[in-house]
Amino acid sequence: MKFTYVTLFENLISPYFEDSILKKAIEKNLLSIDFYNPRDYTKNKHNKVDDYQAGGGAGLLLNAQPLFDTLKDIKSKNPNAYFIFPAPAGKPFVQVDAKRLAKKEHIVFVNGRYEGIDERVVETYADEIFSIGDYVLTGGELASTVMSDAISRNISGVLGNEDSLEEESFENKLLEAPSFTKPTIFENKSIPSEFLKGNHGKISNLKNEMAKLKTKYFRPDLFSRSDARR
Ligand code: ADE
Repeated sequence: MKFTYVTLFENLISPYFEDSILKKAIEKNLLSIDFYNPRDYTKNKHNKVDDYQAGGGAGLLLNAQPLFDTLKDIKSKNPNAYFIFPAPAGKPFVQVDAKRLAKKEHIVFVNGRYEGIDERVVETYADEIFSIGDYVLTGGELASTVMSDAISRNISGVLGNEDSLEEESFENKLLEAPSFTKPTIFENKSIPSEFLKGNHGKISNLKNEMAKLKTKYFRPDLFSRSDARR
């Protein structure tokens, strides 16, 4: 998988790949990243990348020309790349999307700053537009990094133990069951006694019941859409 980030602020994204699981994924050649800066595509004297909104309106937009030319260049070099635009007005990014997108070969994240991106650029290039939550960030970089992380861990070989993908939250539209470490009694609290007896069938049933209860309590919206309800 290759992730390309179109951003004025590479440093908001690149450090995330310098540690832990994603660093290892790069070292194992399962993942590569690169960056394009629209400022390198400006045609004005001062390399200005922002502009006032046509027709008025609060705040500046990323100017259409440098961004359009950046994306045109990327597309011409990578005709099969898949373009994702993070935006608060996008559809909610969920686990199913992370799994689906992990099968792509090359994803380009186009990060707006200021008050957003000229809509004609979005119309021309966006394959999908995603929001990571109902709040407004100062730009797309955090959202792109969040999505990259969620996608990466679904790429075969990135996680040390792929079983963890099957037991985790949002599988079967349920939250993951609570988990525990040693010691079995800690701060006067014990772990469920079934976990100590080693009957894996019973442990699995118990985990399933706990996952249902947890989902019902914390995320009734998710539970009402889950098969576990029936
Ligand atoms: N850019 C600004 N806010 C965002 C959000 N909530 N999700 C995705 N991209 C964004």
